[in-house]
Amino acid sequence: MEEQTLTLKIAERIEEPGNIVRLRLVDPEGAALPKFEAGAHLDLHLRDGALDLWRQYSLCSDPAETGFYEIGVLLDPKTRGGSSAVHRLAVPGARFEVEGPRNHFPLAEDAETTVLFGGGIGVTPMLAMAQRLHALGRDFTLHYCTRSRDRTAFRTVIEQAPWAESVVFHFDDGDDAQRLDLARDLPPPGKNTHLYVCGPEGFMDWLIGYAEANGHDGGTVHREYFSADIDASGDTFEVEARLSGVTVTIGPEDTIAKALARAGVKIEVKCEEGVCGTCVTDVLEGTPDHRDKFLTDEEREEGTMICACCSRACTSRLVLDI
Ligand code: FES
Repeated sequence: MEEQTLTLKIAERIEEPGNIVRLRLVDPEGAALPKFEAGAHLDLHLRDGALDLWRQYSLCSDPAETGFYEIGVLLDPKTRGGSSAVHRLAVPGARFEVEGPRNHFPLAEDAETTVLFGGGIGVTPMLAMAQRLHALGRDFTLHYCTRSRDRTAFRTVIEQAPWAESVVFHFDDGDDAQRLDLARDLPPPGKNTHLYVCGPEGFMDWLIGYAEANGHDGGTVHREYFSADIDASGDTFEVEARLSGVTVTIGPEDTIAKALARAGVKIEVKCEEGVCGTCVTDVLEGTPDHRDKFLTDEEREEGTMICACCSRACTSRLVLDI
């Protein structure tokens, strides 16, 4: 997939229920946008005075559409300012520097059974997946969990979609029969059965834990965390940046990326909470103590990569290929 830095303009801002804005982004000159795969996200550069952040937002529009991109952004007071900046700055006509689209949540398009689980704003990548699966003529089910019918973003979009009958809504304030029931709603495991999960961390951990405990192989349970409550603190250790010829000490509250940056070795960082993968760096020696939500279980076991924004070391020394 093509990936580049773009300047995009907000063409439309739609207020969805539940403090979510749906933003339509276009090329300012009307040019066609790079194609994207279902599950892909954009990195949005948010700048306003002292604010200078990159944040990741899943594309929820039709992957076949090259005239515009759409993203949905929840105003979340618990996060570190990214969502409030989007809600403040993203007015029609505003321009943003954007990187991507890039995809860490790809769809297995040839799966026999595909079940999508979106919790709240975690429905956004599922909307792109639903459109792609429908275009491919594949059967799928999207389980969409929200607090209440009235606070369900994208409900109108979904109800008017040609794939609306593949969507099952679950409302927290509804009766028990319509709530998500994994004993009933999870398909039987199988190597051609793929599950996709995105939503709040607790929702994801619960669902993934249940699926894996009931026989779904980790490789068929696809996940994308959009934020994580990680603990990046721990014991002191040393990091050698071998190509740079620099060794630093990482204190209990420090991170590899920050300590190396102070020593002049730059590792690009975006989310700073182990979900976007921007800071992934190769490990040459030592054992990582993974704190991120980005690497797969297999990648963790291999131990050859580390998220330098938050992960630490099980050994007293790590050697990185940077
Ligand atoms: S900067 Fe996003 S995972 Fe490290």
